[in-house]
Amino acid sequence: MSTQNPDRYAVIGNPISQTKSPLIHMAFAAESGQHLVYSALEGPLGQFAATVDQFRAEGGKGLNVTVPFKLDACAYATDLSDEAHAAGAANALKFEGERVYAQNFDGVGLVRDITHNLGQPLAGKRVLLLGAGGAARGAILPILREGPACLFVANRTVDKAQALVQAFRANGAGDTLQGGGYEALAERRFDVVINATSASLSAALPPLPASAFEADGLAYDMVYGKGLTPFLKLAQQAGVRQLADGAGMLVEQAAEAFAWWRGVRPETRAMIARISVPLI
Ligand code: ATR
Repeated sequence: MSTQNPDRYAVIGNPISQTKSPLIHMAFAAESGQHLVYSALEGPLGQFAATVDQFRAEGGKGLNVTVPFKLDACAYATDLSDEAHAAGAANALKFEGERVYAQNFDGVGLVRDITHNLGQPLAGKRVLLLGAGGAARGAILPILREGPACLFVANRTVDKAQALVQAFRANGAGDTLQGGGYEALAERRFDVVINATSASLSAALPPLPASAFEADGLAYDMVYGKGLTPFLKLAQQAGVRQLADGAGMLVEQAAEAFAWWRGVRPETRAMIARISVPLI
């Protein structure tokens, strides 16, 4: 073990007490023999830049960023990845001298969880994404990269879905990407349905017809730790055999950030099992 001070990382958010990121990253560090400390930082509202400036002045090497600072993180950065640019939001920062690199690993983590851990390739599949907020926006580019047959973005406020699709099309997304309201789903079925709305946080259900699910497909709720959400229950009642929440997405995005900072990709399966709660 090195006798030097460990490199410093943290997750910044407000509130932050609920975060699992220190647990995940300290376990990754122990497993891969990386000499670092990772803590939780509560950023005062409206003072993101000042808080990050201080963290960097104290030698901080990188940050994960969570609610409500993901947009501030983008504005703070000097260099944005394609994912962060497309999402308009960053969930990871890396500090190198004067440069501040921004990444958004949420969508990549989601896709890795679906394709690698859950064994559902997205290539050629019909994918439905519910919601048009930050969580949905971050998922679009990584899903499109997998080559689905279609990616339909459905949102309660139809204009927001259409604006999102327009913005991605203006940046090169083709006809594969479509958008509209929930009523447009009446006659359509999807192999993979992903809930990126915040509805599950308040035990609400997006107005999704049960007929949209394919029984041998996958229903994925981005929230984690909530058990069987109303969305997952609807999928179960519709006969969908594979149900998942966002525990795997959380751990996979953490692994992506860890690899980006340290050059070593940690094992994720044990940690996903550790933080998962049963879907009942
Ligand atoms: P986030 O950054 O988590 O995506 P957000 O930007 O506030 O959060 O977006 C929340 C998303 O959840 C929106 O797409 C919202 O739909 P509207 O744009 O119509 O508001 C969606 N949402 C929240 N509660 C919902 C509900 N009960 N039914 C359907 N959609 C819901």
